[in-house]
Amino acid sequence: MNEADSEIVSSIIERYGYSRTMKPEAADLILVNSCTVRENAEKRAIARLAQYKGYKKDPEVKLGLLGCVPARNKKKLQKEHPFIDIVLGPDSYRKFEEILMQEHYPFRDTDLSKKELYDDILPQRQDELNAWIAIMRGCNQFCSYCIVPYTRGRERSRPFNSIIKAAEEIATKNIPQVTLLGQNVNAYQYEEYSFSDVLKGVAGVQGIRRIRFMSPHPKGFTQKMLKVMRDNDNICNHIHLPLQSGSSKILESMNRTYTKNDYLKLVEQIKKHIPEIALTTDIIVGFPGETDHDFKDTLDVMKKVGFDNAFMFQYSPRPGTYAAKHMEDNIPYKLKNERLQKVIELQHEHTARKNKKLVGQKLEVLVEGTSKKDKNEKIGRTESDKLVIIKAGQGKIGEFAKVKITGTAGVSLFGEIPQ
Ligand code: 5AD
Ligand code: SF4
Repeated sequence: MNEADSEIVSSIIERYGYSRTMKPEAADLILVNSCTVRENAEKRAIARLAQYKGYKKDPEVKLGLLGCVPARNKKKLQKEHPFIDIVLGPDSYRKFEEILMQEHYPFRDTDLSKKELYDDILPQRQDELNAWIAIMRGCNQFCSYCIVPYTRGRERSRPFNSIIKAAEEIATKNIPQVTLLGQNVNAYQYEEYSFSDVLKGVAGVQGIRRIRFMSPHPKGFTQKMLKVMRDNDNICNHIHLPLQSGSSKILESMNRTYTKNDYLKLVEQIKKHIPEIALTTDIIVGFPGETDHDFKDTLDVMKKVGFDNAFMFQYSPRPGTYAAKHMEDNIPYKLKNERLQKVIELQHEHTARKNKKLVGQKLEVLVEGTSKKDKNEKIGRTESDKLVIIKAGQGKIGEFAKVKITGTAGVSLFGEIPQ
């Protein structure tokens, strides 16, 4: 979502004569778009600011902090980082007009809006491979560990027609992939349109080869969505379905509104409708009160589902959330870390096993770039979002190629394009 927001910011400031550079020493304006979902992310953003402070020796150079970090702690930031010229929360990016036109520094605005969707702004920096469309912003779910509802505000859905218009525009630019974004995409509701209507509508736009979406909540994942996925070849057979924990007790204290069994039943439904589906997930270990038994439930769900991949995190208390206020962070760091290593190890086994099954198959791969390790090799992604290292054959970046999977090593996949 932050990547998508950065593109919106680029689009806005380019109206005032700015153009993008990746070299901070060449910049008149340096913007750090920050995330506060876990403490580490926040620390990284603050460290970047400190790093860029040096460029302000030239008084003309302005430094800005955007995104969720300032939305959470505006006053503290002002005190500790008085050198920041611009502080804007996720709903305030239109304020660049006032800042840049009137040279209004320092400028701070982190108010959250009930309405802001930026739906009239076409992101400028869509790369040639993927374009984001944020179909909704904010979240009403209030999972007890999560800071997003506090930094991004309440749920609001983008008008259906503006989503289709954006998809059509993307198709005319020959960008092969669209990713529909939202904190909780299946909560999308605009007039009579639900998320399955959005999926179907975007799938119907001529010229869009791949459609992805991120992320659905297991609650409210409907049969209708599965049918639309099954009936439209251009919707990728991949679902990122955050589990968080396999223990019904922990899920309840996380306010996830489903049980272990509900999740497993949903996965069964998904696999029944789309047997070749790739499933990925998010897992948190060390949530307050997580016993060995609870942790085993997480491992158990992982084994039963067999995820293709997972993002795995240690619980990190976020100030202001329900869990941080009312639940003691009582799992020692060492134990959190041990549990994290265990889930990572198990996931690697599953990923490796799934990858091995692909050896010998011919898969459609979107060629994304050149391998960092070997300039003669290309890399690409399968429909199931797996990265393939293409060892041989002519593949053109931005185009699709039929790649024969020739082998695996650990979690890496290798293939070649038959001549
Ligand atoms: N601690 C650890 N992980 C978290 N996530 C969100 N909040 C926290 C937290 N406080 C993880 C969840 C979510 C992903 C984006 O980040 O797994 O799905
Ligand atoms: Fe956070 Fe839960 Fe909303 Fe996801 S659904 S953004 S985890 S509150």
